[in-house]
Amino acid sequence: MTYATPSLYVEPIRLIRSDATFPAAICFCHDADIRRLYTHHPFLHPNEQAVYMKYEHARRQKSYLLGRYVAKQATAKLIGETQLSRVEIRQGVFQFPIVGHPTSSNVQVSLSHCDDFACAVAFPEEHPLGIDIEEINPDRNTLIRDQATPAELRLLSQLPLGEDVAMTTLWTAKEALSKILRTGMMTPFSLFEMEKLTVADGVVTGEYTNFAQYKLVSFQLGGYICTIAAPRRTELSSLQIGRIQAQFASMGTR
Ligand SMILES: CC(C)(COP(=O)(O)OP(=O)(O)OC[C@H]1O[C@@H](n2cnc3c(N)ncnc32)[C@H](O)[C@@H]1OP(=O)(O)O)[C@@H](O)C(=O)NCCC(=O)NCCS
Repeated sequence: MTYATPSLYVEPIRLIRSDATFPAAICFCHDADIRRLYTHHPFLHPNEQAVYMKYEHARRQKSYLLGRYVAKQATAKLIGETQLSRVEIRQGVFQFPIVGHPTSSNVQVSLSHCDDFACAVAFPEEHPLGIDIEEINPDRNTLIRDQATPAELRLLSQLPLGEDVAMTTLWTAKEALSKILRTGMMTPFSLFEMEKLTVADGVVTGEYTNFAQYKLVSFQLGGYICTIAAPRRTELSSLQIGRIQAQFASMGTR
C-alpha cells in the first residue's frame, strides 16, 4: 500500500501593532493518514493520549490527532520546544483549546480541522487570534446563505469571488470570530455579520459590524478557505499567504 506524504507548513509570524509587536506561529498540515504518522511519531502528551484512547470513531480520532498535531507544531515553533509531546492541548469548559507546557506559560492556540486538512495559530495571551478552515462545498451554499444577513450577501455579491468561495468565506469568517471570542457558534449568526469586505491579490479582508475591534483575513488553499480573525489594528504582513497557497494549491480540489 502507498501513502501520500504529509504536507506540513509551520512558520513564525509577527503581530505588528503601532505600540508593540507580538510573536506568533502558524501551522498547516494536510495528511490523508495522520494515524499512520502517529504510529511512527507518537507526538501526543500522556494526558492527550488518554483522551485519544476514549474516542471510538475513526473520524474523531483523525480530527483529534490532526488538530493536536498542528496546534503543537505552532506552539512548539512559538516557544522553541523541539519535543511535541511536552506540549499539551487540553479543552476548556466550552471546548476551547488550552496550552500546557512544563516551562512556558501565557501561550494560547486556536485550531481547526476539516477532513485531511488542519491549521492552527499559537499566540501570546496578550494578543488573541482565531482560525477556521472549511472545504468549499457547494452543497452547503443554501444552508450558509440562509444564515447570512441581507447586508453581507449584498457585499459579497459585489466581490469577484463566485458563490462557492463567497459562502465558505462567510462561514469561516464567523467561525474564526466565534473562536477568538471563545463562544463557539452559540449566538445568532447575524451577530457575527461581516462588513467592509475587500479583495486584493486573492485575499479577502473585512471587519465585523458588531465586533469593531476585530478584522478577518481570508484566503483560498486549494479546495479550502481559511480565515483568521485578529484584532483590527494588527498588521499580519509577515504571514506568507502566497507561499502557503502555493504549497497547498492542489489540496482538496473536487
Ligand atoms: C466551536 C466551533 C466553532 C468549531 O468549529 P467546527 O467547524 O465545528 O470545527 P473546527 O475544526 O473548525 O474547530 C474545532 C476546534 O475548535 C476549538 N474550539 C471548540 N470550541 C471552541 C470555543 N468555544 N472557542 C474557541 N475554540 C473552540 C477546538 O480546539 C476544536 O478542536 P478539538 O475539538 O479537536 O480540540 C463549532 O463546533 C461550534 O460552534 N460549536 C457549537 C457548539 C459549542 O460551541 N459548544 C461549546 C460548548 S457549550
